[in-house]
Parts: sequence; C-alpha cells; structure tokens
Amino acid sequence: MNQQQLKELLAQMSLEEKIGQLVQLPAYFQNGGTITGPAGDLGLTQEDLSLAGSYLSVIGAEKTRTLQEEYTAAHPHHIPLIFMDDIINGYRTVFPVPLAQGCTFNPDLVQQGASVAAKEAAASGVHVTFSPMADLVRDARWGRVMESTGEDAYLNGLMAAAMVRGYQGDLKEKGTIAGCLKHFAGYGAPEGGRDYANVELSLRTLKEDYLPAYKAAIDAGVAMVMTSFNTLDRVPSTANKWLMRDILRDEMGFDGALISDWGAVGELVPHGVAQDFAQAAQLAIEAGVDMDMVSPSYAKHLKTLVEEGKVDEKLIDESCMRMLELKNKLGLFENPFRDAAKEDEDALLLCEEHRKAAQDCAEKSFVLLKNEENMLPLRSGQEKVAFIGPFVNNKFLCGSWAIFSDDQDTVALKDALEKQESDSCISFAAGSRVMDGDGVVQGFQKQIPEETLDEEFALSQAIEMARGADKVVLALGEHREFSGEASSRGSLTLPRCQQRLLDEVAKVNQNITVVLFCGRPMDLRDVHNKAKAILVAWFPGTEGGPALARTLYGHCAPQGKLSMAFPFSVSQLPLHYNQLSTGRPFHGDYKAARFGSKYQDMPRFPLYPFGFGLSYTTFSCSPVTLDKAVLTKDSSIKARVSVKNTGNAEGTETVQLYIRDMVGSVARPVRELKGFRQVTLQPGEEKEVCFEITEDMLRFWDIHMNYVSEPGEFQLFIGTDSTTENKASFTLEA
Ligand code: BGC
Repeated sequence: MNQQQLKELLAQMSLEEKIGQLVQLPAYFQNGGTITGPAGDLGLTQEDLSLAGSYLSVIGAEKTRTLQEEYTAAHPHHIPLIFMDDIINGYRTVFPVPLAQGCTFNPDLVQQGASVAAKEAAASGVHVTFSPMADLVRDARWGRVMESTGEDAYLNGLMAAAMVRGYQGDLKEKGTIAGCLKHFAGYGAPEGGRDYANVELSLRTLKEDYLPAYKAAIDAGVAMVMTSFNTLDRVPSTANKWLMRDILRDEMGFDGALISDWGAVGELVPHGVAQDFAQAAQLAIEAGVDMDMVSPSYAKHLKTLVEEGKVDEKLIDESCMRMLELKNKLGLFENPFRDAAKEDEDALLLCEEHRKAAQDCAEKSFVLLKNEENMLPLRSGQEKVAFIGPFVNNKFLCGSWAIFSDDQDTVALKDALEKQESDSCISFAAGSRVMDGDGVVQGFQKQIPEETLDEEFALSQAIEMARGADKVVLALGEHREFSGEASSRGSLTLPRCQQRLLDEVAKVNQNITVVLFCGRPMDLRDVHNKAKAILVAWFPGTEGGPALARTLYGHCAPQGKLSMAFPFSVSQLPLHYNQLSTGRPFHGDYKAARFGSKYQDMPRFPLYPFGFGLSYTTFSCSPVTLDKAVLTKDSSIKARVSVKNTGNAEGTETVQLYIRDMVGSVARPVRELKGFRQVTLQPGEEKEVCFEITEDMLRFWDIHMNYVSEPGEFQLFIGTDSTTENKASFTLEA
C-alpha cells in the first residue's frame, strides 16, 4: 500500500478498530504459549479480543497461518495481525547470550547471528523481535546484564546496529523480521542492581552514556522501540512525554512505532502516577506510546477517554497510523502470512549451517582470564583429564531468554568431548548440584528441572577421579535462571555446593582449569586463587559443547575480550572503566595515596578489566606513533602500533583505542573506547594497526549541553585491554 491508501484505510476505520490496532495480547489468549511477564485475566470482552491487532509469543508456521487466516477474514477491514516475540540470542538454533556476543568485539559476527535468528523466526511466522536490547550496564547484580552487550556505549552501539541490520536487512527480502529496540531509556541502571527499580541519572549522563547505543540502533533503521519499566527523574518511561516525544522522536529522529513493555501502561498505577488504568492509558497515549503490551488499559479505556473529550482522537489516529505503517513495511497487507512456511521451518530450524554459525560465534565469545603453566590447551591423547562439575553433562546452556529453544537440541560438553577425544584419556563426574538445596529460584521462563543427586557420593567420586588425573577441568557456574529478567543477585559467588567441590578437588589436584558458565560477571576471587586457568564460557548456546571441546583441546584459540569487567567484589558495583577521575584520583599505590578514592579493605579496580582476554599465544604492542601532534577540525591524525605474536601458536588479538580529554568544561572520563581492530597473527608475525583520529570522535555534551569538541590536550591509548598505558598525546586546535 502507499501512504495515501493507508490514510484512506485509517479514515474508514471505527474508533474501536483503531484502538484495537494499539493492543497486543499474549499467547495465552490463543491457547497457551510462553509467558514472559505476570499473566492474568485482563478482563477483555470478545470484541476487544477480536480487534486486538497483535499477538506476543505465538509461534509456529501452521499456528500463525491459521490464526492469521481466521483473524483477517473476520476483521472488518481485513487488517492482518502482527506477531511479535522475544528472539534474543536465537530462535531454535541458539547463539551465546548477548553479553557473550559483546565479548566477540565482532559486529559482523553478531549481525550474522541476528540474521540466522531472523531466518528461523520468519519461517515460524514471527514478524517482529523484541531485540536489540541496547541498555548500558554497570552493575553485575542486575540479571539483565546477560541481555546487554556490556558496559561500553560505543561497543553497545556497534552491536545494536549490527543486530538491527542482521534482523531487518531491507525488510523486503525473505527471512527478515523487524527489530524492536529496548528498553527506552536507562533501564540498565536500576538502584542496587535490582530489576525494575528506580533509575537516577543526570541528564548529562543519560545523554552522554546511555542514549548513544539506542541512537546507533535508530540510525541503523530499527523499526520499533519499547519503553522501559523504570522511572527516570521519577517519571515512569511509559508516561514520560518529554522522553518519548522530545528526546526519542524530535532529538533522536525515531519515526517508527513505540510499544510499552509488558504491562507497563497498567504499571503506571503501582508506580503511583495514575490512579487507575484509565488515567494510565491517557498518560501513555499522550506520551506517544503507540501499542499497549498486555495491559487492559488501552483496550478498556481509550474509547471512553475519547468520548469524554479527555483524549484527542488525533492521538489515536497518530498511533494507529504508525502501527499500520509497520504492518505495511513488513508487507503484511499484500501477504499476511509473510514467510511462515512449514517446509522452511523443516529446512531451516537447527540446520547444519545455522549450528555452525552458532558454534563459530560461541568459540569467539569465550574469554580466557588466566592460563598459568600452559594449563590450556589440553593435549589430546597425552594426558588424563577429569571433567568434573554440574555443567559437564548439562544441556541447559542457552540462557534464560532462549524461550523457543528445546534443551534437547543443545550439545552438552560431555557429548562433544566423547565424540572428539579418545575414551581412555577422559573421565566425567558431576561432583555437585548446580544449586544449593536451599537456593532461591523462582522458575521464570522455564521450569527448573529437579536436580536429583546424592551429594556426598557425587563429591567423593569426583575427588577420586581428580586424584587420578593429570589435569582437572571444572565446569562450574550459575543456574541459567540466575540471570535474565527479574534475576538480580545480591552475591556473585559460586553456590556453596560448587565452592565445596572446588575446595575439595583443589586439595588433591592443583592442575585445575575452571570453565565458567554464567550470564554475568561473577566474583572469582577464590576461583582465581585455586585455578591455574579460567575460561569464561558464558551461556554459549546450542553448540556450546562442541565449541568448548574444540577450544579446550586447541582446535581453536580463545579470543574474546570482556565486554564487562569482572569485579573484585560485589561491593565495587556499579563499576565501569570509563569513570571520572575524581579530585583525588587513585592509581594503585595504596601507601602513597592515603586519601585517594579507594577502599581500605579491598582493591579499587576489578579483578579482570573491560577489554581483557588472553589467548593461547602472547602478543606485544609497540609504542604508539602519531603522524602529527596537532588535530584540526578538517584533518585527521593517524595513530599506529605494531602488534606481534610473541608466542608459539596462531592467535587473534583485539587492539583497542582509548582517548582521554585532559581538560573539559565538565569532568571527562579517564578514558573512552573509540575504536578496535582484530588481527590474526601466526607465531612471530607482526602487523601494523592504524587508527584514524578525527574531531568528531572527541565530542561530548559540554557545560552548556551542546554536543561539541573542545580544543586542548588529549591522551590516546592503544593496547590490548582498558588498562593499557601505551600512550601518546595530541592537541586539538581551536
Ligand atoms: C521484558 C521485555 C520483553 C517483554 C516481552 C518484558 O517483561 O522486559 O524485554 O521483550 O517482556 O516478553
């Protein structure tokens, strides 16, 4: 349809029909499906149901086709439904969780993963995915750090844009779906790391640090945006007219459809800014929220609000038009079934090519934090290795958002090792449960499988196995329901049962490698002391087992870099490398800086910093050279280093560029990531890496809230993690 035809359609629609386009219902109105939020009776009538323009979490080619056919035939203007789902890190073929994808520092790979997810989901009838999540995260207690690509706005922006490109293509080709950017805005900074809690951000911090990644996704053409649950400056986002109209639309240029988060319109009541669902509906539509996800507010109250003259019908028309435009962009008026096809589902879901892509992404997302005495790689057939721990024979490797995956499709580490290695050299034991018996888990996306294990027997069996082995690989970590939505944690250590396993094994065999499964940075102090090697596997997805087996035995080398630091302790949180300097900076010398900004009883810095990650080889980086020392608005500086593989194996290094503005009209971060390059080098090989520095990279929100650069001195750092001191200085001329 063209715009004129859409306008004509809108003009013919009744008020009820128009409101219907603004309502999204969950799958349980269509005989079940996955629930991702509080479920309940919304008190809707048959008419509300028959006009609701969208469903959430209804999947499957046959199901969506049937529903679409019946709905469209019955609808007064035959307007098709739009199906939306959470395809976060894959549909049936599951990729590593987004935080792990951030560690690849490889937007092309992330784009490829999104494109695989889109192909599979489109074949199952999905039109829109609630991804990317571009929320900046600085507090590992918050469970949803797992869905973010990390603590850096620049990296997050690249990743969010890559996901948008991967999902959407040009939205015309087969196998594409629309993206929905979330959660606008600032959802990643809840007080105390507690999900849904209040967010306190200064306007400057919001604009400087939190908005850029959303902006990158908007610039990449994301079709939809979702509001966040939190308050910002004490106004819940879903009622925040300034945020949605002035910032999102006018300042950031978003002109697509805006959806609330699950039930967030109704939640304006418990937030205490609306006295009932009617007022909630009024506030949200005035803020410019086009679609109400799973709350009765729009469906039950917008009509009366218009009839009473409290809401201008123009607002309904504006929102309805955006929803029609989205359906039109997806071609649903011409083909309401879009790509939903049983044959394509059979051919595409979990096909070899998709599994390979998921495995490749997993291999590149693993982060090697420590590797003393060359614990890794293991030497196939030459040493006896005991694989011990509750994640050895465990198929729950996809993270809590992989809600459409089947755990049976996931390859456990044990299965992959048995296939890859000769039986005589490897042995397996669980050693402990994943969770302490009294651990608190509220089953959320999926039920927690019962863990049946005789704990004492399992532990003694593991100790015996460890005693007789040359090396031990301990597969430990957190339960998948410990990260994700509503899964904040107050402590970041291993469960007691796994800690006990580590302690006991360490008494009989010190050649320990810990492979860590998690959806967030954890407190690894004790693991760091007891293990000679630590490999972070995150929740690696469907092909996590084979990817790990290959990595552990050196068929490929780890190359991931932390997209979020591992703190020394939970008490350091929130934590991020690009902090302000303070008036009493602390550089690490505890004796000299009695009055520095630090703790008396623990280190000031993380255990493993942002950007850090080892490989099976070592790299050196030459001093930085600049082709000139003065930058002007219309010139650039070339900053170069030479990177050399100084070890004995091939490896890939991510060379990172950070810049510090030495003096600004407002305090500036101690350094900020401005670029990175990946180089793969053979032993002894050396390559030059060059970054081009331009004035636009130096801009920020100045004292007058203008986005400008300020002349003066800058420091530039190039190295292999965010702590590098390999630096040079230049001046920006007025
Ligand atoms: C989450 C969103 C998600 C939505 C739909 C909400 O609870 O915050 O991220 O997209 O549910 O499942």
